[in-house]
Amino acid sequence: MIASNNDSLRYDAGEFAYGTWRILDEEASFVEDDLVRRLYTCLEHGISTLDTAEIYGGYLVEQALGNVLKNHKELRAGFNVVTKAGIDVPSIEKEHATLPHYNAAGNNLVLCAEKSLTLLHVDVIDLFLVHRPDWLTHPEDTAAGLQQLLDEGKVKNVGVSNYTIHQFETLDGLLGGKLATNQVEFSPLEMAPLYDGTFDQCLQKNVRPMAWSPLGGGALFTEEEGAAKRLRDKLKELSPKYGDAPIDALVYAWVLAVPTAPTVILGTNKLSRILDGAKGKSIKLDRQDWYGIWEAAKGQSVP
Ligand SMILES: NC(=O)c1ccc[n+]([C@@H]2O[C@H](COP(=O)([O-])OP(=O)(O)OC[C@H]3O[C@@H](n4cnc5c(N)ncnc54)[C@H](OP(=O)(O)O)[C@@H]3O)[C@@H](O)[C@H]2O)c1
Repeated sequence: MIASNNDSLRYDAGEFAYGTWRILDEEASFVEDDLVRRLYTCLEHGISTLDTAEIYGGYLVEQALGNVLKNHKELRAGFNVVTKAGIDVPSIEKEHATLPHYNAAGNNLVLCAEKSLTLLHVDVIDLFLVHRPDWLTHPEDTAAGLQQLLDEGKVKNVGVSNYTIHQFETLDGLLGGKLATNQVEFSPLEMAPLYDGTFDQCLQKNVRPMAWSPLGGGALFTEEEGAAKRLRDKLKELSPKYGDAPIDALVYAWVLAVPTAPTVILGTNKLSRILDGAKGKSIKLDRQDWYGIWEAAKGQSVP
């Protein structure tokens, strides 16, 4: 059965989520009050999913976010929290790690989720994701850990990130069809999920994917040549037709236009850019403009 409305989705993170990967990027200038303001702005604009991960900010973002959630009960009540685990890099928090590696073993996922609950100051994680596929762990082991977290009520939903369709199918089968999302990179600058079956699989399973780096990690605004430059020029050309829409809003509209309507994960640390971006929800791109953006990013006409 293919989902034709959001009611039949396994889990719905909404049109937008707020991503926290970069909130400590300039740690010295991190101001908790600024983050608080951005989070209230998100809620006011119907953005009620927070995306984080154990590894973000060198394992420090969950704690920073948790401090905010602890001190602002309205924020804790208003947001659904998504976190991820399974990437170990050399650090104080991962003393055993001598090089970056993945670990999706069930017992590791359980320990990570328990740590996230403590750091985030939440009673339950709304959606817990395996951050990256770990080629060394048998999917039965991963499934057992995720199922344990569900059974113990520590997480409400489980999902994956950066999984191939085959990896998704295998783990989903072992969990009896419980994977709630596949969080993947998707933007006009990274269209793989349109081609590799990821979005078709999501449709087939009533799963709403989540799109990370929707602006190419900011490359849209910084590259002076190539795909990002062509794309930027095309978006600027289209902007007047859509009420002088900000170009990031046009990109978000482009992402949301595909049938799975992937949740756009906003990565900005600027309040004004959250407001700009939220406008993308109400922009319905003309079919030929969607393809025009495709064409600009690819640097060719459709075959
Ligand atoms: N599952 C995964 O493996 C995975 C991987 C990567 C990311 N993620 C998630 O996805 C979220 C979003 O990813 P992302 O941060 O790469 O998203 P993005 O939106 O593609 O990139 C964000 C970057 O673009 C810049 N930017 C945004 N609007 C701009 C504008 N109008 N002009 C100039 N620069 C602009 C931001 O800077 P400013 O802050 O200055 O606006 C920020 O540095 C992350 O926070 C994380 O939650 C998941």
